[in-house]
Amino acid sequence: MTSTLSIDAAPARRRTRHAWAARALDAAARFWFAATVFGQLVFGAYIVSLYGGAAAAGNFNGWNKVMTHGFVRADPAGNIVTAAHLLLAAVIMLGGALQLVPRVRARAPSFHRWNGRVYLVAAVVTALSGLYMVWFRGAVGDIVQHVGTSMNALLIVACAGMTVRRALSRDFAAHRRWALRLFLCVSGVWFFRVGLMFWLAVNGGPAGFDVDTFTGPFLSFLSFAQYLLPLAVLELYLRAGGSGGAVARGGTALLLVALSLAMTAGILVATMGMWWPHM
Ligand code: HEM
Repeated sequence: MTSTLSIDAAPARRRTRHAWAARALDAAARFWFAATVFGQLVFGAYIVSLYGGAAAAGNFNGWNKVMTHGFVRADPAGNIVTAAHLLLAAVIMLGGALQLVPRVRARAPSFHRWNGRVYLVAAVVTALSGLYMVWFRGAVGDIVQHVGTSMNALLIVACAGMTVRRALSRDFAAHRRWALRLFLCVSGVWFFRVGLMFWLAVNGGPAGFDVDTFTGPFLSFLSFAQYLLPLAVLELYLRAGGSGGAVARGGTALLLVALSLAMTAGILVATMGMWWPHM
């Protein structure tokens, strides 16, 4: 009798563990998302305030406060590309996260479709203008960083293409997966800033790179990790959330919480040290 009961109880215990792990994964994803939305809104507000504020005041030299090649009097074409890059960067940072909020998707489907189109076009143009800025205008960093960011740009274009293709073929599960990949690739430059600020805070200052030349092994690593690490974690999350057992879900939830805590620390340091002073 006792052994029959314990045998019967085993599947129930497994189901309970499974339900707990699913809830933990969901909560971890919500925590990550809330921190990301907050951090991207602050970055978006910084772009509007610093670059939009300088442009509105007619003081385009204000674009050179942070950028090495912001406003260059002798290069009007490059200035237009940079202006488009900055304007659309703000659109992306302020409108992107809204696309992923399930309630907005469910309650305002037509807003979701239009915001999605704007986001997609803005992401592709920002990526292409970024490529132009890196290879034709000049940018801070070395060739390894330039290759890393350029791969980010190409991935943005590829993910945008797949997101549209899956929507057109009405495969909405795949559309959602590609939209998430697109969001993470588009957020690459934001992850770079947040990751760098976390690294500086943990090390109590610059480590693994030279501040004057803005080059070194850590920055080379970060130029690729800014999108490869989030993309890898997303694949883990999708697999754990799809067919994963309790251990896979629980483990992924723990990993996501640990990374989100590090990200939140990076967001706070970036906000206080890099963005807020220019707002
Ligand atoms: C798609 C999302 C992107 C956003 C939101 C974004 C945002 C920005 C912002 C705000 C700046 C001004 C610098 C600052 O104040 O921090 C900037 C500069 C720049 N961005 Fe982007 N960017 C994106 C993608 C890219 C990509 C994919 C590339 C390269 C392929 C790129 C290349 C550059 C370059 C070269 C600069 C000038 C850096 C310098 O002057 O040294 N961006 N970007």
